[in-house]
Amino acid sequence: MQLYNDNPTINGLNKKIDESKQGEVFEAGAEQSLDPNHRKFYIESYGCQMNFSDSEIVASILRQENFGPTKNMEEADLILINTCSIREKAEDTVRKRLRVFDKIKEQKPGTLVGVLGCMAERLKKKLLDQEQLVDLVVGPDAYRDLPKLIGSADDGEKGVNVLLSREETYADISPLRLDSNGVSAFISIMRGCDNMCSFCVVPFTRGRERSRNAFSIVAEATDLYQRGYREVTLLGQNVDSYKWQNPESEQTVSFANLLEMVAQVHPDLRVRFSTSHPKDITDDVLYTMAKYENICKYIHLPVQSGNSRVLKLMNRTYDREWYKNKIDRIYEIMPDCAISSDVITGFCTETEEEHQDTLSILEYANYSMSYMFFYSERPGTLAARKYEDDIPLETKKRRLQEVIRLQNQISFQHNQKDIGKEYMVLIEGNSKKSDQDWKGRNTQNKMVVFPKKGNFMPGEYVKVKVLDATSATLKGEMV
Ligand code: SAH
Ligand code: SF4
Ligand code: F3S
Repeated sequence: MQLYNDNPTINGLNKKIDESKQGEVFEAGAEQSLDPNHRKFYIESYGCQMNFSDSEIVASILRQENFGPTKNMEEADLILINTCSIREKAEDTVRKRLRVFDKIKEQKPGTLVGVLGCMAERLKKKLLDQEQLVDLVVGPDAYRDLPKLIGSADDGEKGVNVLLSREETYADISPLRLDSNGVSAFISIMRGCDNMCSFCVVPFTRGRERSRNAFSIVAEATDLYQRGYREVTLLGQNVDSYKWQNPESEQTVSFANLLEMVAQVHPDLRVRFSTSHPKDITDDVLYTMAKYENICKYIHLPVQSGNSRVLKLMNRTYDREWYKNKIDRIYEIMPDCAISSDVITGFCTETEEEHQDTLSILEYANYSMSYMFFYSERPGTLAARKYEDDIPLETKKRRLQEVIRLQNQISFQHNQKDIGKEYMVLIEGNSKKSDQDWKGRNTQNKMVVFPKKGNFMPGEYVKVKVLDATSATLKGEMV
């Protein structure tokens, strides 16, 4: 569901990501006809799902300007990279990609290269000094300005807009679904973040939190359903603080209200959401989830650390006990709900004992999976200004390995318990390994692989009995 693809550990798999697969290359369907002389753009996206979703907005804006998508960067007139700043490694990856684009520019002068997203926002004009072959630097709230900026870049001027907005939600722009499986789609419901976790760069790169018009969200979900999609994921850095006031009725729509509105679009449309901040997820949300079968029983509830002192330094505003109570509450209301997490090891001043607290909370919460990282200091954040980054890299990495090892065991056990159970699975497409097998997810967001039988198609629900499980996948057969 969520993808942080600057880091070698995803899905608790402890797997190295193939360098060539880092960043996603998109191609859109030819839904709309373009001028035969249209120019071509190529876009790569890094970081969180929000960025992938933004790339679809960018594609839609470019389409209006008679730019068509291409998967081949060599034939592109405009090369865009939608960047992430969350960890140093994420930025290193982007710089490496820029070296590749430089070569294309050498061969094909006139090709424009643009840096979008969080790294553009963090570095602003500095990026142009550091990366002389870059023509455009555009922050996450300035994509409407792209046509104008491309125009000035065509005239040989650098195009820069990194203004953050308090209002922009791109509510009226219908995203051009890129590289889509036609079954599941992401819907951005809010932008920015007001939380100020001390380690995190997002409030600086994405600006203040703002919620999108609830009716435009429901309209987008309805449109997706009518076009055959069967799963939507509502996206935001902190979805539980979604709050939109209808200017006409003065009525306020909370996240629980919004979930209900989207769930009512159609019982066959699955609803997921990400990410939840433990401090903001309310009983109302949990009861709404329990009430609707099509709201998936899965919550991504990042803990970051299991130790109260470290959590305080991180400015997460909850402590260990409070988090444990939240976990209890979720399992009380939805015993079959799967919970996943994000974990940071080696945050400033973290002791071995405090690290043990993180290990023990993984067990307490019984996460189905986690995204795990070692702490990477980000310039300008509260932690960078206030605390010394004093844990040696080897220690951070060793602690990370311990967290990964434990999470893998927990994920394995979590999945083993599913053997013998039956789940409704939404078919997404062929499994990675064989076109004789389907893959799809159950409500708990677990990937299920099973042999094809009958005339089913992606986008249809089938009942699957689980026969076997690894720490990452369930295997089964249709019943
Ligand atoms: N808004 C989401 C997460 C956004 S970033 C939330 O609040 O949960 C995704 C994850 O990256 C975070 O949950 C955190 O675990 C990790 N992360 C953020 N800043 C980091 C840093 N400086 N070093 C290492 N990991 C970091
Ligand atoms: Fe970053 Fe915290 Fe906001 Fe998540 S909630 S984006 S970790 S500041
Ligand atoms: Fe990265 Fe920006 Fe998302 S920093 S994680 S792309 S909000």
